[in-house]
Amino acid sequence: MAEPETEQIGSEGCCSPGAQQACCAPEAKSECCGEAHGSSCGCDAGRSGEAEVRDEADVREMVRERYAGAATAASEGTPACCGDVALIADDQREAFGSGLYGSEDRDALPSAAQLASLGCGNPTAVADLEEGETMLDLGSGGGIDVLLSARRVGPTGKAYGLDMTDEMLELARRNQREAGVENVEFLKGTIEDVPVADDSVDVVISNCVINLSTDKPRVLREAARVLRPGGRFAVSDVVADPGMDAATRRDMQRWTGCIAGALTREDFERELMAAGFESVEILETHRVHEHAASAIVRARLAPDRVPAPREASGDHSGPPIACSLSSGEKGERLDAWRAVAAAALLESSVEERGLSLRLRHDAEAELRRLIAAESSCCPFLDFDLRSDGPDLRLTVAGPGGARPIILTLFGLERLENAEHAWSNG
Ligand SMILES: C[S@@+](CC[C@H](N)C(=O)[O-])C[C@H]1O[C@@H](n2cnc3c(N)ncnc32)[C@H](O)[C@@H]1O
Repeated sequence: MAEPETEQIGSEGCCSPGAQQACCAPEAKSECCGEAHGSSCGCDAGRSGEAEVRDEADVREMVRERYAGAATAASEGTPACCGDVALIADDQREAFGSGLYGSEDRDALPSAAQLASLGCGNPTAVADLEEGETMLDLGSGGGIDVLLSARRVGPTGKAYGLDMTDEMLELARRNQREAGVENVEFLKGTIEDVPVADDSVDVVISNCVINLSTDKPRVLREAARVLRPGGRFAVSDVVADPGMDAATRRDMQRWTGCIAGALTREDFERELMAAGFESVEILETHRVHEHAASAIVRARLAPDRVPAPREASGDHSGPPIACSLSSGEKGERLDAWRAVAAAALLESSVEERGLSLRLRHDAEAELRRLIAAESSCCPFLDFDLRSDGPDLRLTVAGPGGARPIILTLFGLERLENAEHAWSNG
């Protein structure tokens, strides 16, 4: 993303780094960004010479940056920057954000979840969720649709959110705690490589995210893979008019703003069918741009569908989604692992086989207790504990999708981008 040419004013509140990235309100932009700010969200957005759509990794990083900024701004509670409804420009409030939800839904949510709402519809209103079902939200952001779905599926069901942006995941988990909802879990990962087992969810929803992906056919194949036979796809997303002009398509700010990457209605329908869906239905709800509209996109898998073939690259098995611990129990387990790591961890590295840790010998009893407990609820993790001179050596391995979970156990999220690939455990 091009660096802003102007000096930033101040470092707090509306002018904090998070707010500067997400800010859309013209009057606040003048104050935070100086005179030379652009016309869309972010200090440097919408200016002449702004970034054009580049390669896949660049695009994903710019998307991540933009939504990290939005999450930080929402966490800071800076409504004065972008209005009191959402991180959305005044002229877009009716097209994006929490204004698209009924007051009954909004009233049930923490204000930070409403503030972080960046969707273009309300997929939970058309997902026909039933008590006891398992649902997954692709690109769950601040968690608004996951929290609403959790109420609909009730205590016997489960609502999962998936997002790649750490700041959004933190915000969503905070919103979950504030809402006091137990049957919810937020997973870290990408919608192109969903860290969830095959045939494990009843409903996939998503709200204004698929347009952001650089590989939409793959996202739709992943949705089909994780859905059970007969499973439902209920998504709000932007659909482009067939004539969307090339300049809009190339504009990186319009891409991260959910417009430039949108599929046309025909392409969406074709890719859904190619991924194995049937009964595809695409209904425009409102215009969001001169060349694009928001739409409800629904489809389902045949009850007797043959499981979708896995992608050639990557490990798609992921951790089994039905972990036997409640989210409260998981929090306690996490605290126990982190306490032992804080007291006894001497060295850590990511090896080809998994995470390798050198620990003090006096932690052995607690480690064996935790390994036994973990093995009964998370059988996809593989622990190997042995002596290493005067110390202990613990290796923790698992399928590729379990890597973030393993690193989180020991508070080692910083090793996420370590060089070695994770072997399949
Ligand atoms: C426009 S916001 C929508 C958030 C949420 N669905 C809502 O309605 O408020 C897009 C979200 O999708 C996430 N996201 C974008 N691309 C992603 C990808 N390829 N994999 C996982 N998450 C992604 C972003 O981090 C961000 O939280």
